Amino acid sequence: MTSLTPPASVEIVEVAPRDGFQSIRDPLPTAEKQRCIAALLDAGVTRLEIGSFVSPKAIPQMADTGELVAAFADRPGLRLSALVPNLRGAELALDHGIREVVYVVSVSESHNRSNVRRSVDESLADLGRVIERLRQTEGTRLRLDLGTSFDCPYEGTIDWPRVDRVLGEALTMASELPLEVALCDTTGRASPYQVADHFTRLRERHARHGLDWAFHGHDTFGMGVANALFAIHHGATAVDSACAGLGGCPFAPGATGNTATEDLLYALQGGGVETGIDLPRLLAAADLVAALPGGQTASHLRQVPRERVS
Ligand code: COA
Ligand code: ZN
Repeated sequence: MTSLTPPASVEIVEVAPRDGFQSIRDPLPTAEKQRCIAALLDAGVTRLEIGSFVSPKAIPQMADTGELVAAFADRPGLRLSALVPNLRGAELALDHGIREVVYVVSVSESHNRSNVRRSVDESLADLGRVIERLRQTEGTRLRLDLGTSFDCPYEGTIDWPRVDRVLGEALTMASELPLEVALCDTTGRASPYQVADHFTRLRERHARHGLDWAFHGHDTFGMGVANALFAIHHGATAVDSACAGLGGCPFAPGATGNTATEDLLYALQGGGVETGIDLPRLLAAADLVAALPGGQTASHLRQVPRERVS
């Protein structure tokens, strides 16, 4: 039985500017995005996935990521990251001043093909090139997002040995490189016990110096906060979440966004876990995010009368 003693602190990675904004079909004005990001930073967010360097034809909403990086890159104490699907994206990210590259590969073949249009092995080969590039560039870090680590919309439940295969190959290439690995519940269908099982088994097999673990979850089945907590109690030191629970997909009924940062924060505060984020200010940021045209939000705390939230 793993201890339920809360950790002293957890790092929250705010992903509304990437996973949230990308769910809105019509490109938002860059100034609107900047207003939301500024409010998130005012609330104390110190890790932010600010966007992605992907094909603007695939996701037009992300086309202004470079401009956003330019606006916020010199904020002291802010750890900015951006998602990339290939070497081209990593190079663009570095050229725009990003120092933490989030490389995405899905564990399931069919999801990887539908997301980045190539096989898992092709994505892993390109990861090797990204790693070489990062090794040549001082002060850079790698975050590996393993999509569909629990469930795939096409193939169903994903067992941990399949994650192990992809992770094992990635870690062999990344030897001695500081790395954060995020197990991603892309569909939000994982259960807390499955999350605990994957973290336990994969950490037993792969723990090494300089390797940190993270969880990226969606709240589609209402498990977002519980899954994040189980991940934290089984070794994750960072959790992705999106302010206001912004996300979902206008073409996929029932899909919802990432776990709402404010809901997760409330649970963590209950255990005295330090995140550096101020809840009332985060709720103010959530109001801005929720007012964006075309966005779908899903947050419990935003529905509670403000005077009851402290
Ligand atoms: N950033 C910007 N442009 C890129 C790019 C990148 N990382 N990678 C490729 N491109 C451009 C190419 O230069 C090419 O441009 P052109 O048509 O003007 O010549 C075009 O995109 C297509 O390139 P190609 O290599 O043939 O890619 P593809 O059409 O097979 O698409 C991806 C592959 C990965 C680029 C595309 O599917 C993608 O960007 N997916 C992002 C998915 C995503 O963000 N999902 C959500 C996050 S998990
Ligand atoms: Zn996601």
